[in-house]
Amino acid sequence: MTTSILGKPDYTMEEVQEILEGARSMVPVAVEAYRKINRGAFPPAIKMFEDSALVSGNITRNTPPTNVIIQILEESTRTAGSFRRAAKNLGLDPVVIHMAATSRGGKGESPLDDAEQHMIQGAGIYILRTSVEGEPKFLAEKLQSMGYQISVINAGDGKHRHPTQGRLDLLTLDISGKLKKGMKIGIGGDLKYGRTVHSILSVLKPFEPEVSLVPFGGLELESPYRDGLNIVGEEEGNLELLLDCDVIYLTRVQQKRIAVPTDFDRIQRVYITNLAFLERAKKGCIIMHPGPRRGEISDEIRRDPRLVMSAQAWLGIPERMNEIWIAATQHKPVQGFSRGEVEILSEENKPARTKPGTMTIGSPERGTVIDHLPAGAGDMIKALLRKAGWVNSEQTVPVSDFVDSPGRRCKKDIIVVHGDFISNEAGALITLLAPDATINHIRGDGILTKMKFAPAKGICGLCQCHNGDCITNHDGEAETRFLVRDEKAICYWCETIHNLPALIGK
Ligand code: NCD
Repeated sequence: MTTSILGKPDYTMEEVQEILEGARSMVPVAVEAYRKINRGAFPPAIKMFEDSALVSGNITRNTPPTNVIIQILEESTRTAGSFRRAAKNLGLDPVVIHMAATSRGGKGESPLDDAEQHMIQGAGIYILRTSVEGEPKFLAEKLQSMGYQISVINAGDGKHRHPTQGRLDLLTLDISGKLKKGMKIGIGGDLKYGRTVHSILSVLKPFEPEVSLVPFGGLELESPYRDGLNIVGEEEGNLELLLDCDVIYLTRVQQKRIAVPTDFDRIQRVYITNLAFLERAKKGCIIMHPGPRRGEISDEIRRDPRLVMSAQAWLGIPERMNEIWIAATQHKPVQGFSRGEVEILSEENKPARTKPGTMTIGSPERGTVIDHLPAGAGDMIKALLRKAGWVNSEQTVPVSDFVDSPGRRCKKDIIVVHGDFISNEAGALITLLAPDATINHIRGDGILTKMKFAPAKGICGLCQCHNGDCITNHDGEAETRFLVRDEKAICYWCETIHNLPALIGK
């Protein structure tokens, strides 16, 4: 288990069991702490679990002293409150900082500069809620590379992920007896912008749940969050799909994140789970909601025992105690990003002259001929070479549109770079867009080195992420990084999926 908690797409069963084991062990500690400050009372939010073996025990935790900073740059009641309570239950003295009071919020300081101030003051655990996606991951990596021994906990980053909510949801499912292989879970609400949905689904993957999806108002679950799931039903607004589920997980519509908020009132009016709905739901089911609720849960089921929303909120305390305790007792640096080696698939030396008449443009004296580009792709690749600084403006880079390719009976583009050999990195990137491309280095001594590359596995520092909320669009020190999979580029920080030509071509 890494000490920083940043959120990720997949967990192994082993990782999930480790998370659960730690969180379970904190439940009796949190109950004891509650009793101590509430005249011996048992926490009402988990009254239904009072007889569970999980809530009793006589465990104490010795937490080494550490400076816990809880920085809340977006609205928060439950998350901020339970992190604070969790730290206090462990005998720590957390500092809670809200948006308006930060240099980030009022003075336009960069995320990294702002965060570093807490490191200078000796922060050991940095808990961050932010609208900037990928920011916790970026800060964890960057601050650690700057030499700070810091554990970063993502308390929700924009519409991306909310891993600690996913973990407390997991604990709620476990304590409710619903966490089973092949369980049926139905998720209704804002599946597009609801980060808690993204996180609960990733943490549940090892249980291979049958998932029914009921997006509200077109707010559908998108890739990569839906990848690898067993989706057995999916229909906009059809609450009927939730009726045969063991677990119904509802969320509010994230009005703030919707570009055109006019739909909001309609959406909130239409989809309401009420008593009539619950009466038809599967016997023994539970209804979960990360809170806050809006119209999607009616007042009449607010106190229904099937609704475990308050239990979820309370279980955030022991779950977060576990996170803080681990961070305070073990320091493990975050896993870095590997750029991946460039792989040359073939390399041969041949005479440089092409047979007369077969090409409509001449080969340069010394330089690179990029051959076998799909017809029409030349301009985009030319733009890429210029953007990357791999060719300078004095070099002429003609694209010969639609050259007849001898022996292939098709049209192709060719690019000639005068005076320079383009790098292997450029070759691998060009191959991403043009899988048949050959890169020919013409040395000027009559010999040509013809190379084919494996397509690049990543694209770093070249293209801008199209998600305006991505950290790379908010901090100049956040280098853009994309992982390439199935002809798509996934932003390493915010996981937004891009179509390759659209990303590279711009
Ligand atoms: C959620 C969040 O902030 O993403 N709330 C929470 O942390 N309990 C869900 C929401 O705000 O709708």
